[in-house]
Amino acid sequence: MIASTADIEKAVAVLRAGGLVALPTETVYGLAADAEDPVALARIFQVKGRPPSHPLIVHIGGADRLEGWVAEVPEAARKLADAFWPGPLTLVLRRSARVPLEVTGGLETVAVRVPAHPVALRLLEAFGGGVAAPSANRFGSVSPTTAAHVRAELGDGVDFVLDGGPCTVGVESTIVDVSGASPVLLRPGGITREDLEAVLGHPVPDGAAGDSEVRVPGQHPSHYAPSATVVLVEPEQVLAEAAVAHKQGRRVGVLVPPAYADLPVDAHAVIAVPASPADYARGLYGYLRDLDEQGCDLIIASLPPERGLGTAIANRLGRAAGPRP
Ligand code: TXA
Ligand code: MG
Repeated sequence: MIASTADIEKAVAVLRAGGLVALPTETVYGLAADAEDPVALARIFQVKGRPPSHPLIVHIGGADRLEGWVAEVPEAARKLADAFWPGPLTLVLRRSARVPLEVTGGLETVAVRVPAHPVALRLLEAFGGGVAAPSANRFGSVSPTTAAHVRAELGDGVDFVLDGGPCTVGVESTIVDVSGASPVLLRPGGITREDLEAVLGHPVPDGAAGDSEVRVPGQHPSHYAPSATVVLVEPEQVLAEAAVAHKQGRRVGVLVPPAYADLPVDAHAVIAVPASPADYARGLYGYLRDLDEQGCDLIIASLPPERGLGTAIANRLGRAAGPRP
């Protein structure tokens, strides 16, 4: 089901009334509120169960609207916006006075992106302003990539769900901090480091984790996590580890690496990972949800090669396997 004009009008009315709308984007579904309404913003944090110090991304309808939200647009930001917007890239810039501190978690910078999804762009055009939208999941859990995931995860917490079909990228946007002397990568995502470096003409290092000024995304050890425990092993160990845990009576779910797709697997639930990183990224969160739904208590997987989209997939699996609170 794809959003009709009436759906867009309803969503705009909900945003104007201070409500929350589930917003389809090319990466994951967002939980959207009017970025200039502090009361609506407070509801986002409450519904997600997210600490209010954890800043939100402002979504705007086009690069030409950027000036209204930020204090300045450095050359690197302009180049990246020209190359990748609309698209799965978020830029961190110095905020303008228009951006409430509720959006930025008290920081003097703001994260902004133009999503490449026709329904999101229609909504932003009709709404006119910016919408703050974190991923539409409970804090720490797996991001939703379908409207059904949002309903299952947030239920009545969201006032209106815009259905834009399954997300085509499947992992969150790449976040680049362009507010300092030179760009740094805060979160790998739908735009690869190689893509960024090709446009900028120089290396883009990872942002310094632990810097007291910067809230590096996913700084909490466990993030993007299903209910089942996630254990990462070398690709050639996946089937053997699964067989051992299966024998011990665990309800094992396995993400089978492409090289081993044809071998038999001793496990409760088995998903063969696509060989194409784009297909893997698109499917990843659905696989984790699926294994949870099948009642797995342990998921065994391996990291894909860390290049291109594989870097974002490896980052999310690494966090899913991180220590839980
Ligand atoms: O693809 C996406 O980016 C999705 C869709 C809905 O657009 N949104 C998303 O939002 O992933 P969220 O809230 O789950 O993740 C946003 C991340 C947070 O981890 C936050 O730390 C970081 O962006 N962030 C936001 N503002 C920031 C800032 N001023 N400085 C550093 N990091 C910031
Ligand atoms: Mg999130």
